[in-house]
Amino acid sequence: MEISAKTKKISKQTLFHNSTPRIIAIVAHKGGVGKSTIALNLSASLAKKGKKVLVMDLDSQNNTGLFFGVQDYIGKIPTMSDVLYQTTTPDKAIIRVRENFDLIQGNRMLAKFVMEKGIEPGSGLILKNIMDENASFFRQYDYVFFDSSPSHSILHLNALLAAHTTFVPLICDFFSVNGVAQIQQTIDEVNQNIDLLKEYDPEGIYSYMNIGLIIANMLDRRMRGRVDKALDVVKEMYPLKLASNPIRVCSQLMDCPEKHLLIGELAPSSTGSEDFDLLAEEVLNLV
Ligand SMILES: Nc1ncnc2c1ncn2[C@@H]1O[C@H](COP(=O)(O)OP(=O)(O)OP(=O)(O)O)[C@@H](O)[C@H]1O
Ligand SMILES: [Mg+2]
Repeated sequence: MEISAKTKKISKQTLFHNSTPRIIAIVAHKGGVGKSTIALNLSASLAKKGKKVLVMDLDSQNNTGLFFGVQDYIGKIPTMSDVLYQTTTPDKAIIRVRENFDLIQGNRMLAKFVMEKGIEPGSGLILKNIMDENASFFRQYDYVFFDSSPSHSILHLNALLAAHTTFVPLICDFFSVNGVAQIQQTIDEVNQNIDLLKEYDPEGIYSYMNIGLIIANMLDRRMRGRVDKALDVVKEMYPLKLASNPIRVCSQLMDCPEKHLLIGELAPSSTGSEDFDLLAEEVLNLV
């Protein structure tokens, strides 16, 4: 039997199973669609609203570390690869980047992890097991986000098995709409693995994965016809999943990484800042 978010009709109301923290993997099989931008600016908006947030970077590009200009800490403070290789515990790898906002940065060693662990049986559960073993540490956070790489890898599988749900950025073009379908396929495969895990380990706590929110990004109203067409397709394919608050194209968002500033700090009156605050409100209402 095919198990998918669509067939199981998981609604937005049941994403997190009342768990603390709420764990969200930001995924897309396409590069440059705004995964890191959303992970960081959405986290910042939630942190501003008093929620305690952790971003874990599962991309060897380490764009989150570069964003905050903390890449020089590599070698002094452990990173995600040290956590995944279990040479340290997550609490030792935390960098406090803002009030209420912590980061565990990625680094190039994540690419080695993909090469080495990609073929090892059971290696998809490494992150979930680490988070279960360190549950009391993670409980201090309201939200944990995984920023992920565009390519499908064992890191993706780790993110999907450890998270409660996924947020999928969408650029309103044909390829990106097709990319959401690819994510759904991956999630269906993960859910089939969960069925097997439940048979193998009846005591384990495994929850089915789903697409929680599809976030339209870089929305350009000058392209209204094409944008509306893409959004209509997504609404039809994934009812209830499209975030009510899209992120409009905002040139200041492109300046943020170089200035090491979040959009709310660099340009508090910009559309980007407004959109992320509205999106954060929407996320706060997900249970
Ligand atoms: N709404 C937006 N308006 C303008 N620029 C944006 C917007 N969202 C993201 N960008 C810019 O687009 C570029 C790609 O964004 P980002 O790095 O977040 O994508 P990504 O999906 O994480 O990429 P990768 O797959 O390489 O990790 C960045 O320069 C970012 O500043
Ligand atoms: Mg990125």
